[in-house]
Amino acid sequence: MIKIIHALTAEEAGINAAEAVLEVIKEKRNPVLGLDTGSSPLGMYRELISRFKSGSVSFENVRTVNLDEYAGLAPDHPSSYRFFMDENLFNHIDIKKQNTHLPNGHTSNYKAECKRYDAVVASMGGIDLQVLGIGHNGHIGFNEPSSFFTSGTSYIKLTDSTRAANSRFFESEESVPTHAFSMGIGQIMSAQKILLIAIGKDKAEILERALFGPVTPEVPASILQFFKGDVLVSADEEALGEIIRKQSSRSAC
Ligand code: F6R
Repeated sequence: MIKIIHALTAEEAGINAAEAVLEVIKEKRNPVLGLDTGSSPLGMYRELISRFKSGSVSFENVRTVNLDEYAGLAPDHPSSYRFFMDENLFNHIDIKKQNTHLPNGHTSNYKAECKRYDAVVASMGGIDLQVLGIGHNGHIGFNEPSSFFTSGTSYIKLTDSTRAANSRFFESEESVPTHAFSMGIGQIMSAQKILLIAIGKDKAEILERALFGPVTPEVPASILQFFKGDVLVSADEEALGEIIRKQSSRSAC
């Protein structure tokens, strides 16, 4: 079931998202978190760090698997997702680094890396909570619009719109890698719970299409409508703009 947690601000949406993560950490002895990068989870990571620093949570028993990584970037490249996770979360909490996993972008053997990462994800014994953001084209992880839903880890060609959107994390658009490794839709859908974070008005239209439009691999996030458990959507007022507008125009008829 889709449960929207309506926040007035991006900061509040980050705090609400952190609460959902903390609940899982409190419930499980060895929780497994599926994590993401980008702008959307930043507020949540800040709140998790602040809860750790105030002594209200420990990440000692937490294991993590990230959704994706750019192909061609070494882990210490400042635009790699490994670097992002270290800088924005892992370096500030008591998680054991050996318990944090991302695809290895620095390989030319794409097939072997997809296989390796499938084995890493399988070895977790299930993801308790998968955190997602949503791309402007409806991608989740780096599963771009396509004619089919992916199953396991894939080596994916990024669309021009994704490369343009992510160029803010690079020196120029040309330096954004053309390909990435991403956990598949099947792996995302096998998590126990999903937490989708959407911030800002540029996500309003795609969020409405994903949650209430037709389910199609052309909008990969639309598959979440078929998720077996709860999909918590932590969003701010701006990202919810189109959903609110459509709902109020429906109730006006
Ligand atoms: C990143 C990821 C992507 C982002 C999406 C939204 O690990 O999985 O699907 O969640 O591109 O990115 P932001 O939050 O930067 O708008």
